[in-house]
Amino acid sequence: MMMKATAKAHSNIALVKYWGKRDEHLNLPAVGSISVTLKEIYTVTSVEFKKDLKKDVLILNNSTAPDYQRKRVSRFLDLIRKEAGTNAPARVVSENNFPTGAGLASSASAFASLALAGTTAAGIQKSETQLSGLARLGSGSAARSIFGGFVEMNLGTRDDGSDSVAHQIAPENYWDIRVLIAITSTAEKKTGSTEGMQHSAETSPYYQQWLSTSVKDLTDMHQAIKLRDFKSLGEISEYSCLKMHALAMSARPGLIYWNSITLDCMQAITDLRRSGIPVYFTIDAGPQVKAICLPENVDKIQKVLANIRGVKKIIKTALGPGTALVGETLL
Ligand code: DP6
Repeated sequence: MMMKATAKAHSNIALVKYWGKRDEHLNLPAVGSISVTLKEIYTVTSVEFKKDLKKDVLILNNSTAPDYQRKRVSRFLDLIRKEAGTNAPARVVSENNFPTGAGLASSASAFASLALAGTTAAGIQKSETQLSGLARLGSGSAARSIFGGFVEMNLGTRDDGSDSVAHQIAPENYWDIRVLIAITSTAEKKTGSTEGMQHSAETSPYYQQWLSTSVKDLTDMHQAIKLRDFKSLGEISEYSCLKMHALAMSARPGLIYWNSITLDCMQAITDLRRSGIPVYFTIDAGPQVKAICLPENVDKIQKVLANIRGVKKIIKTALGPGTALVGETLL
């Protein structure tokens, strides 16, 4: 049964980072990761399979998406079409609630919402775990956005990737943690995550150490979450972030995702901490800085970050829910 389906997925930020793949074809991670799903940043995607279309159509934030993005979406939809036994092209309309070009990664919320809207539109029902495995094929971090709150992506051991899926560690109301995102640049990054992690794996002399030290980070983060130990959560987050960036920097040629404002934000967060405010930074494959803190310190931290020359915008968020359907229409 074909229908139009619309799903909403929230973005997430990894506290223990994923960087590197053990299988590129199945997009299997080389390390496990732990993230928090973010309430205020999300993507709403609707999918409608239509026999009368010549090829897939992708409308992204109200305009026709560039070809490279449409092709990535088409390859993902092919997986759903194969399972549903159809070759109907689809019309996909996807909107981020954050401004285009804000420099915020959207592949996690994009592929998580596409996985749920696409399968539902094709008449396929999947469990959250199955959806997570499907979303992973679009983007590794998307596997985590299927779930809300604190989420772990399993490394998995099976060659077919069936156990490389995410699961929820604790729901969003388990512990009120806040994230402030300081936008330091709206330019598109030069080296995307997929390419950056492949390059790091191939050329960094530190890659084996990155792999071998990841298990302890995951175990320690589990313990921090279990005990609601904010200091440990923050320290492990910064450690994993800096280790990932050190790995990228030690590739040849080195990858530097930061700009000078990124460093100013990192410094300000470190200074705030020295002054007694528990706040820690994490940074993905880009120049935006995420400050992790507790609700009572949000205003103070926002003021400090907003005062840094070059910070364009600050987005404040609590933890959010997993991917959900927001509309279904039978055709
Ligand atoms: C630095 O999930 O974007 O954000 O699987 O190749 O699509 P692909 O990579 P992606 O990588 C995310 C890397 C990261 C860390 C993280 O989110 O864990």
